[in-house]
Amino acid sequence: MQRRAATAVLSTLVVALAATGVVMVVLRALLLAEAFSGNTPSPADPYDGGYARHPGLTLLHIVPGLVFVILGPLQFATRIRARYTNLHRWCGRIYVASGAVVGVSALVLGVVVGFAGSTETTAVTFFSTLFLISLGLAVFRIRRREVAAHREWMIRAFALGLAVTTMRPMVGILTALAGLPFSEALGISFWLAFSLHLVLAECWISFTRTERNPVSATVSVPSTSRFP
Ligand code: HEM
Repeated sequence: MQRRAATAVLSTLVVALAATGVVMVVLRALLLAEAFSGNTPSPADPYDGGYARHPGLTLLHIVPGLVFVILGPLQFATRIRARYTNLHRWCGRIYVASGAVVGVSALVLGVVVGFAGSTETTAVTFFSTLFLISLGLAVFRIRRREVAAHREWMIRAFALGLAVTTMRPMVGILTALAGLPFSEALGISFWLAFSLHLVLAECWISFTRTERNPVSATVSVPSTSRFP
């Protein structure tokens, strides 16, 4: 019962964050479209200007980012996974490929477009690397048919990828309430949001790790919840 309630809360939160990600991508794409049509943002705006100067790199990040946030919740839905295993496998390949492009392009974006200095660069380097390692280990584990370990690494990777959506309200809070300049708030939010998501992922993993679902399991374990 406790697990069912927690699953319902988490599912709602994940869908809301994924929807925020979709909105973020659409807004950035609209601003890029404006830049392409010649109506570029003012050079006085270093944030939007940075993306407008690197449209290809930005698209390389946000288009797979869109695929990642849309496919993520579907990949974790137990009903879809159980009924349509082949679909789960194919979407999984697309999801991992998109995630890999998001992670690598994030590393480049943090240096090329990032304007919050070393606080941002260090956070982006650290968490992008962790994100890519988590994705890689998730693939490695499932190729060895270690389903429980695959699930745990996928939860870590998805939680990290979704952290960009929690960052946005954090930047708003730090600028509006704490009075920090935007660039400083952005750098701090990178550390806060990604750390928070990582901690939440570890909490969920240990909360749902049971004797029925040990990390060393090598076969699929049926589950009654919507999220693993
Ligand atoms: C490990 C995961 C990720 C990392 C480390 C990361 C990192 C970054 C970095 C460094 C930037 C440039 C920030 C700056 O302006 O200084 C950025 C921008 C952006 N990212 Fe990501 N990202 C990740 C995942 C995603 C995902 C999954 C999405 C999909 C929603 C996404 C969507 C965007 C968008 C839309 C922007 C443009 C920012 C804006 O419009 O305000 N990112 N990201």
